[in-house]
Amino acid sequence: MNLILFGAPGAGKGTQSNLLVKRDQLHQISTGDLLRSAIKNESQLGLKAKGFIDKGELVPDELVIGMVKEVFALHGNGFILDGFPRTVNQAAALEVLLKEFHLVVNKAIFLEVPYKTLLTRLSGRRVCKSCGTVYHISSKPTSIESVCDECGGNVVQRNDDKEEVIANRLKTYEEFTIPLKKYFKQTGQYAEVNGDQDEESVYMSIKSSMNL
Ligand code: AP5
Repeated sequence: MNLILFGAPGAGKGTQSNLLVKRDQLHQISTGDLLRSAIKNESQLGLKAKGFIDKGELVPDELVIGMVKEVFALHGNGFILDGFPRTVNQAAALEVLLKEFHLVVNKAIFLEVPYKTLLTRLSGRRVCKSCGTVYHISSKPTSIESVCDECGGNVVQRNDDKEEVIANRLKTYEEFTIPLKKYFKQTGQYAEVNGDQDEESVYMSIKSSMNL
């Protein structure tokens, strides 16, 4: 099974991808994580991407598509695309890549979450700098403040989770990513899941939609 998980910033794509990786042996291809890792390593790609991410804008399509192509060359079936595609242009490029690697996406699952919930989730999210474990100051706090329960690393707020950047990310999402709903309805891959439930219920809804 190959999946696309898409939705607004904070919709829970990363959280659900982690569950699908642990329980369903899928591998996650998160363009956000790949870009953050490129920034951490100060690679050419990272240096180019940083300015866009810090402002809440999309990284140019050609950089992101090239990055996904490299991952497809290493891994085969059983993937979740988390955060890619997020423009119609990227979706068209994905179709070309899938043909090249003889792969098929079975479902493109949209996580529907109301705007107010997105704001609460994004502003309260905290992430471990070392292992990437995701927390939330209210719904999933660390046991000791700012210390990761998993690895003892430093738990911080993402630069792009600051209030002024969140607004821009949500605007970018509305302009470029919402049109993907229509795109995947036309390809027949579209499924919608209520992302405004507890994590376990969202996971169960995703599993049901995978089997339809
Ligand atoms: P990326 O990292 O992909 O950010 P995003 O799409 O904005 O998504 P998030 O990671 O913010 O949210 P999420 O949906 O994964 O939510 P999460 O599970 O963490 O991309 C970052 C940037 O990189 C982009 O802005 C762009 O610049 C660039 N980029 C990436 N891909 C690109 C592409 N394809 N093209 C161009 N540019 C690209 O959950 C959020 C919080 O909510 C957490 O605290 C979590 O604990 C909590 N939570 C999750 N689920 C629930 C639940 N069910 N109930 C209660 N709380 C929950």
